[in-house]
Amino acid sequence: MAITSTSIAAAQQPVYLDKTKPIEDRVEDALSRMTLEEKVKMCHAQGKFSSPGVPRLGIPEIWMSDGPHGVRAEINWNDWGYSNWKNDSITAFPALTALAATWNPEMSAIYGKNVGEEARFREKDVLLGPGVNIYRTPLNGRNFEYMGEDPYLAGEMVVPYIQELQKNGVAACVKHFALNNQEKWRGNVNVVLSDRALYEIYLPAFKKAVQDGKAWSIMGAYNQIWNQHCCHNDRLLNKILRDEWGFDGVVITDWGGAHDTKESALNGLDIEMGSFTNGLTSESEFTFDDYYLGNPYLEMLKKGEVPDSTVDAKARNILRLIFRTAMNSDKPYGSITTPEHYAAAKQIGDEAIVLLKNNGILPLDPAKYRNILVVGENAVRLLNEGGGSSELKVKDMFSPLEAIKAVYGDGVKYAEGYRTGRPMYEKEDIIPQAILDSLRNQAVEMAKDADAVIYIGGLNKNGFQDCEASDRREYNLPWNQDLIIEELAAANPNLMVANVSGNAYAMPWIDKVPAVLQSWYLGTMIGPSMADVISGKVNPSGKLPFSFPRRLEDNSAHYFGERSYPGIEQATDGGNAAADLAGADVNVGKNPEQEYLDDIFVGYRWHDTKKIPALFPFGHGLSYTTFEYGKPVLSAKEMGADGSITVSVPVTNTGTSEGKEVVQLYISDEKSSLPRPLKELKEFKKISLAPGETKTVEFTITPEALKFFDDKAHEWVAEPGKFKALIGSSSTDIRANAQFSYK
Ligand code: BGC
Repeated sequence: MAITSTSIAAAQQPVYLDKTKPIEDRVEDALSRMTLEEKVKMCHAQGKFSSPGVPRLGIPEIWMSDGPHGVRAEINWNDWGYSNWKNDSITAFPALTALAATWNPEMSAIYGKNVGEEARFREKDVLLGPGVNIYRTPLNGRNFEYMGEDPYLAGEMVVPYIQELQKNGVAACVKHFALNNQEKWRGNVNVVLSDRALYEIYLPAFKKAVQDGKAWSIMGAYNQIWNQHCCHNDRLLNKILRDEWGFDGVVITDWGGAHDTKESALNGLDIEMGSFTNGLTSESEFTFDDYYLGNPYLEMLKKGEVPDSTVDAKARNILRLIFRTAMNSDKPYGSITTPEHYAAAKQIGDEAIVLLKNNGILPLDPAKYRNILVVGENAVRLLNEGGGSSELKVKDMFSPLEAIKAVYGDGVKYAEGYRTGRPMYEKEDIIPQAILDSLRNQAVEMAKDADAVIYIGGLNKNGFQDCEASDRREYNLPWNQDLIIEELAAANPNLMVANVSGNAYAMPWIDKVPAVLQSWYLGTMIGPSMADVISGKVNPSGKLPFSFPRRLEDNSAHYFGERSYPGIEQATDGGNAAADLAGADVNVGKNPEQEYLDDIFVGYRWHDTKKIPALFPFGHGLSYTTFEYGKPVLSAKEMGADGSITVSVPVTNTGTSEGKEVVQLYISDEKSSLPRPLKELKEFKKISLAPGETKTVEFTITPEALKFFDDKAHEWVAEPGKFKALIGSSSTDIRANAQFSYK
């Protein structure tokens, strides 16, 4: 073989720098060159959003950013203030509830690709998201960052996001693992639940993110489970995540989520972020090196109180992450706020909006309606602001009012209707009642003269709304909106409500309003998506990723009272010293404990099984056209343990406009040794149909779809017997069913 300069260079190159070598060889080589001190350094932050590499070896640091709806603006090195850079404005993509409402994994792929390009351009190695905590209560302030109440839907939707994001050399950091299903007391609430609920409801989407999405990192949650914090929880991280699922990525704490050095050393945590510091210099009492996984860890290692294998395991995981991201020399350059990114945000938004009710007034024909009144703060508010860590600094934001004016012309007028304060974290801005009354009266007066009224209210990203670190305080819409909507309905029969929120809310006015659209935090392109659905340019095709109960008590978590939500505080703080958490924006209670008494019956599983109908059920969403489902055909009537059967059903567009339908397959088990929900989502397909067109949708059912988790045996089992395949347009609108047996 001829000796060339490149082959000499390659021969002299250490293995860890040689990208032609397998990643595991590079990891071992780098590890073998590192000192104990260097390994420990890697295990904790060096700044608010960065953790060290190994400068001596030319191994770069890791840069992280929130997540998950766009790349957050730069934050100061050692406090939560924004750095006020001029080059960090980005595209805001629709919130993850919206993504879930598309019921279209192709949209997740588009999302991951586009947000990944922006993260790459901003030189981030880890994007802190997506989140797949299950929607258990509509009061959870962070539901807008998650993907709804069903583990199958959330799992199917999270995988393409991760895969496409990571193609940019940017790691997903799937959060918040696990059971962080409320913000109230999130810092220390101890969640008690059955293994069935854990395995059937709360873990599957995380498992898919790890095994199918191959996520490179995961974020531990703030709360506790089995009386141990999730960020250093032996069973959750060592047994389930690593041993059962084979996770080879990095476990990162939520910011300030570590509380103990020994547990952090032993229980599967890799990088500690966001703990309190009071300065950066050696004069400070508590610097980044004083984190639990900093000097205290080094000392324990040196004294032999925890084995070196713990730090080797962490360093291996972190090196692997660095080779996949920061040192990935094949990574693309990325791009930011491109027309393609805006088009992607628009496309996802278009498919996300859910038409909940329509007496025929929608779509609102722009040729017929010109004198339109738009009412409501969310028609103009910058909804990318607030909400906590997912807050975004956008380059552009096209508001609903602007976009409605662009479609309907100068006859469009606007009235605030109500007003709220600026986005604030953990606080509310109270607007005087006299102002609220006058804004309402003004809107109602103006409504009398309009041909139609479009109400755009809902929630926003203020504290106690759709916002991190606090839960909502009431199920009804805040700021007197119920009254405004009632009065607008009385003033004008052509009222449509087009609310923006990431959560369900009460609709005491539902019978008085001819049409209701559910919109979401759709980011940069919120206006154009909403205007196009209202005018009919886009035919709505979103479906609810969670149920809208009539009343809060109808929701499974609330049905069982405060032990179930939000939990009960104890007489003492149980050693969860607030000092532990000082500086981190977490919510702590006095050793609160909570029991998931609703068990596996969450969301529609509860409404269906207990016969407490939701106002709008999971999977519901109308179209401007109509779909007819034909007779289902089963490939066989019986299935064995190694077999599968297919069920197919023709679906026809019987209306006059092109439209998309989400065909949903639920399975119902006739008899089982353990209680089961009446039915469970097992597959879905979104299809597009021209008027008059028919497509046959085929689902493949395997024994997997028949299984439940037997917690005594600790395994998934399918019991022989009769099952039903239920195919529908929502969880309650079942259009076709076919019975088969499993042997
Ligand atoms: C949130 C995380 C976020 C982190 C960093 C925490 O308060 O819970 O979701 O990624 O802060 O901003």
